[in-house]
Amino acid sequence: MDQSKIFLGGIFDVLPKLIEARRIIILACGTSWHAGLVSEYLFEEYARVPVEVEYASEFRYRKPLIYDNDVVIAISQSGETADTLAAIRMVREQSEATILGICNVAGSSISRETDAGVYTHAGIEIGVASTKAFTAQITVLTMMAFLLGHRKKHIADSDYVQMVKALTQVPEKMREILKHEGFIKDVANKYTNVTNALYLGRGVLYPVALEGALKLKEISYIHAEGYPAAEMKHGPIALIDENMPVFVLAIKDDSYEKIISNIQEVKARNGKVVAIVTEGEKTIRKIADDVIEIPSCHRALSPLLAVVPLQIISYQIAVMRGCNVDQPRNLAKSVTVE
Ligand code: F6R
Repeated sequence: MDQSKIFLGGIFDVLPKLIEARRIIILACGTSWHAGLVSEYLFEEYARVPVEVEYASEFRYRKPLIYDNDVVIAISQSGETADTLAAIRMVREQSEATILGICNVAGSSISRETDAGVYTHAGIEIGVASTKAFTAQITVLTMMAFLLGHRKKHIADSDYVQMVKALTQVPEKMREILKHEGFIKDVANKYTNVTNALYLGRGVLYPVALEGALKLKEISYIHAEGYPAAEMKHGPIALIDENMPVFVLAIKDDSYEKIISNIQEVKARNGKVVAIVTEGEKTIRKIADDVIEIPSCHRALSPLLAVVPLQIISYQIAVMRGCNVDQPRNLAKSVTVE
């Protein structure tokens, strides 16, 4: 396979619609919504198209304006989520907008009711809490954003080749992170008995903070909140004391300096900081309580790597608390009712 190009056969025929789209509307729920939120940053930056990311359950009961030259992307692991399905049916009734699906389950309702789409081929996801499906959704959305950006000539040929190459290197970098699972478990061990946790990230890592918090809530029943790091001072900072762990996505990107000052704000109030940093990072290491390194990567791809330690932390905390990680209470793998 040519590793310098992106092939997405399922959307090949509708690429002109995507290129001409006035706007992309993303419809999803839960973790799939978080994947959509990551892609908002990527589509806007690389493909220069406005994006709205909507909870399907809210969208379907608003009176949204949908234009015929909008492209709607429904993201759903199961392809059966009732609100997402109802939202695309509403789009269909009200407009000629092109509707795409990003689903994991082949032949699912959403994949059948969309005009075109991409299967994530993540394999059957047994655990109720979505993990590999999230990674696969972001991968597909990243590929779409890069492809569209290149086709629209917002990404130069040489950059495009580099970006695609960087994408192919992600699995190896994930394996690197997994080699440190024992260390991550030791970090998790320190936070097994907390009652609250805060997750902070900026830019493309803000939705990863939301996802980290969701995973902790779902499988360990610890209350957790994800926030854009700069919003902390607009409220959540009041919660910080020596009992509050704050998981900070602090990789070396454009907002690195700002994230450092967010960490200082937490430390000044005696909060515990667990920072996910770029390999070799030295400054945060001196101020954070725990530091977990991830390999350096293209900024656009950082969600794919940064979510892995957060997933492992949630998993380890849940196991240590004696929770059923695969089958958390009150949750269903596929939410087919409103
Ligand atoms: C969280 C989780 C849920 C789902 C949501 C949407 O771990 O699994 O939040 O992401 O119920 O499900 P799908 O993607 O099947 O539409």
